[in-house]
Amino acid sequence: MGPGTDNQRKKHGIIMKNMKPKKAKTAKATTRESVRLRKIIDRYRKSRGALIPVLQEAQAALGYLSAQTIEAIAQGLGLPASQVYGVATFYTQFRLKPVGRHLIRVCHGTACHVGGANSISEALEEALGIKDGQTTLDGKFTLESVACLGCCSLAPVMMIDNETYGRLTKESAARALKDF
Ligand code: FES
Repeated sequence: MGPGTDNQRKKHGIIMKNMKPKKAKTAKATTRESVRLRKIIDRYRKSRGALIPVLQEAQAALGYLSAQTIEAIAQGLGLPASQVYGVATFYTQFRLKPVGRHLIRVCHGTACHVGGANSISEALEEALGIKDGQTTLDGKFTLESVACLGCCSLAPVMMIDNETYGRLTKESAARALKDF
């Protein structure tokens, strides 16, 4: 399945930004990731209460929090690894598993909830054969429910990577998957 044309995407909703294709992970990329992580930790090393911002930034930079990342954060901030794990597993915002190549975020904020977000999630779960929070077996899509995506007038809304699909129906949400 190809990435689809802009026209195909427009049929399904509204595009805000173009997605950049992700490159395969190489040893070079892994080194780059360690450098990024070290820079994040260094910025917070002396601050109190730095753990949550460090976890947030590390996840934003690396996609998820691997065991290695958690160990490095614990070491860098001088905290027991068990404490870092405890915080990372307590808050649902943190992901401990890698995400698929395409991240689908279905908005469940108030406007989208009223507009039928539950049925959008259900349609996607059925189309993908996974539940909320899971990744398809081929690693292509991860499905996740999120709070307000900031474009409530388009409710119900979802984003796939950096593209926003608005005024969704069950059918258009499932159809949008074909763009990827
Ligand atoms: S409630 Fe869904 S975008 Fe704001």
